[in-house]
Order: sequence, then structure tokens, then C-alpha cells
Amino acid sequence: MLIGERVTLRPLRRDDMETLLRFSNDVELELLGGGDPPKPHTLEAWQSWYDENMVKDADKKSDMSFAIEADGKMIGHCGLWRFNSTNRTCCLGIGIGDRAYWSRSYGREGVGLLLDCAFRLHNQRKVCLDTSDDNVRAQRCYKACGFVEEGRLRQQLWRGGQYVDEIHMGILEEEWRKGLST
Ligand SMILES: CC(C)(COP(=O)(O)OP(=O)(O)OC[C@H]1O[C@@H](n2cnc3c(N)ncnc32)[C@H](O)[C@@H]1OP(=O)(O)O)[C@@H](O)C(=O)NCCC(=O)NCCS
Repeated sequence: MLIGERVTLRPLRRDDMETLLRFSNDVELELLGGGDPPKPHTLEAWQSWYDENMVKDADKKSDMSFAIEADGKMIGHCGLWRFNSTNRTCCLGIGIGDRAYWSRSYGREGVGLLLDCAFRLHNQRKVCLDTSDDNVRAQRCYKACGFVEEGRLRQQLWRGGQYVDEIHMGILEEEWRKGLST
């Protein structure tokens, strides 16, 4: 468990799949999160994903998925994945599904906990993520956590009616450490 001031990142439980189902069937949220175009999800598919990834193969995988909890309830989920042991890099992802918690710094606290986990607990050298040009809230949250834009794939993503740039961001361990002391 990673415990912040207002946010706790805890292991996902099977009964969280109902909350994830609700989040994943929110079309706007799915568009903001990137990835495949939104489509209907079922509880059975989420439960299979959980059984496959969080139970059966959990020990074989370095991926980490967390429920984001605040005020005693699950408000979103996040994780670290694609760990590369040669480069000592991994990717970060976060989605706050409960809109009441958007733009209130819960995201940056969650990202801060994930960065602490990546750099201090898992000795990573660099953490990366992808977002999109139209997701200004996410970009600002990531910049506030010390990420910098490293690259931009022009008109890479079809985003429910228009093409938008995909933005690649990264933060180095020394940048994170410097941010802690300022
Ligand atoms: C992206 C996300 C994790 C950010 O977390 P958050 O708690 O909402 O963000 P924070 O409050 O930490 O920071 C938000 C920043 O965006 C700004 N902002 C808030 N609302 C905004 C809006 N509608 N448009 C643009 N900027 C906005 C805030 O002022 C703040 O920037 P600042 O510190 O420079 O003033 C969260 O909003 C979320 O999960 N959204 C839905 C899914 C998603 O977009 N996932 C990310 C995919 S890459």
C-alpha cells in the first residue's frame, strides 16, 4: 500500500471490477485515457482480466496495478508497467474515474506516490508516459510532477471526431529527486 496525505494506492480487489466497469463505460473518460476507441465492456471481461493478470500470472509479471482510494472509496486506478531491466525504465498510467475528484490535485498526489514507488522502491532510472494534446488537464498534472515533454507524434490519435497529437513525456530519477527538495 502506498499512503499519501489524501490518497492511498492499494492492491486491486476482484470486487473493484464493478467500479472499473462503471469507469470503462464512461465514454469521455475512455477517450481521455487514450488507447482503443471506446466500446462496451462487461463485468465478466473485467473479472477475467483480474483473474488472468492479478491472480494467475501475478508472480510472473512486474506490472503493478493499484486502486486509487480517497475518502474511503475507490476513485480511480493507476499503475506502472513495461519495466525494462536493461534501461531501468517503466511506464506510468493513471485514471481518476470519479469526476468529483478531477482538478483537485488528487491526480498529482497519486502520480507522486507512483514515482516514489518507481524510483525509491524499484530503483528505476526513468519513468515515461503517453498522453494527448487535447488532454490539457493531464499534461498540467504531469508537468507539476516534474515530467517534461520529450516527443510528439503529430495527428497520431483519432479522438472521437478529430486527429490529435500524441505526446510522450518522461522524468529522470535525478529530476524527481531535485523536485523533492524544492
Ligand atoms: C489526468 C488526471 C489524472 C489529473 O489529475 P487531477 O487530480 O485532475 O489533476 P490536478 O488537479 O493534479 O492538476 C490539474 C491541472 O490541470 C488544470 N486544469 C484543471 N481543469 C482543467 C481543464 N478543464 N482544462 C485544462 N486544464 C485544467 C489545473 O489548473 C491543474 O494545473 P495547474 O496546477 O498548472 O494549475 C485526472 O484528471 C484524470 O484521471 N482524468 C481522467 C482520465 C485521464 O485523463 N487520464 C490520463 C490519461 S493520459
